[in-house]
Amino acid sequence: MQLYTRDIGDGTPLVLLHAFPLSSAMWLAQREGLATRFRVLTPDLRGFGGSPLGTDEPSIDAMADDVAALLDDKNIDRAIIGGLSMGGYVALAFCRRHPDRLLGVVLADTKATEDAKEAREARIRVAERLESEENVGVLVDDVLPRLVGPTTMRNRALVYGRVRGLVQSTPPLAAAWAQRAMAARPDSTGALAGFRTPTLVLHGAEDAIVTEDDARAMAEALPKAELIMIPGSGHLTAVEQPQLFNDAVTEFGAALTRTLR
Ligand code: MLT
Repeated sequence: MQLYTRDIGDGTPLVLLHAFPLSSAMWLAQREGLATRFRVLTPDLRGFGGSPLGTDEPSIDAMADDVAALLDDKNIDRAIIGGLSMGGYVALAFCRRHPDRLLGVVLADTKATEDAKEAREARIRVAERLESEENVGVLVDDVLPRLVGPTTMRNRALVYGRVRGLVQSTPPLAAAWAQRAMAARPDSTGALAGFRTPTLVLHGAEDAIVTEDDARAMAEALPKAELIMIPGSGHLTAVEQPQLFNDAVTEFGAALTRTLR
C-alpha cells in the first residue's frame, strides 16, 4: 500500500505516525519545527488523509509493513520511527517486523499492552456504528473529549478546534478498519526486552487515554529507553505542547547522532 506522505527537510530521516482518528495533519508543528535537523516524513496511515484504505483485513502489522514499503520507495535504509498512540502501536509492530530499518524509536502517548476484553468489545461496537451510520458522530461524542487535556481545553481553544476538525474529517470506514486493527493487535510487552534500539518515550502528564503507569512500564521494559513527561498536555503531546515535544525529539536525535559517530 502506497501511503500519501509529506516529506520535508534534510538530515536524519524521522518518520512520524499519527494518532487515531487523525491524519498526518496533526504533525504540522513537527514539520515546521524539526525539518531543519531531520528529514521529516509524515505519512497518512491507510484510509486516513490522502492514503487509500485498500482491501486487506484490519491489521496493525499491515500498517507497519506499509511504513517499511515507504522507506523502500524513498530509498531510505534506516530511520527514526516515531508514533503517537495508534501510531505508537504501528511503531511497535515495525520494531518487531523490521528491526534492521531502525535508527531510533519515539513512542509517544502509547502503550505496549493489548486491549482488555471490554475495551476490545467496545472498539468492535464503535466499528459497527461507523460502518452502519457512515459518519463519525460516535468519534466526536466518545473519542474527541478525551483526546486533549484540561490545560489545552482551558487555555488553547484553537488547538481543540483544530483537533475537532481533524476528527470530523476522518473517513468513517477507515476509522472502523483502524478500530478493528487496534482491537486485534497483539501484546508487545514480551517483545520489549529484545528491542535494542535507543527509544524515547514521551507521555502527557494529563493523558486520559494512556496511563502514566503504562508509559513507565513500557520504558522500564525497554533496554535503552528514556521517559520524558510532558507537563500541561493530555493525550496529544505533539499537538498540545509542540515545543516541548520537538525539543525532546531534537535532543534525542542529537544524542543518537553522537553515538553513531
Ligand atoms: C489514539 O490516539 O491513537 C487512540 O487513542 C489509540 C487507541 O484508541 O488505543
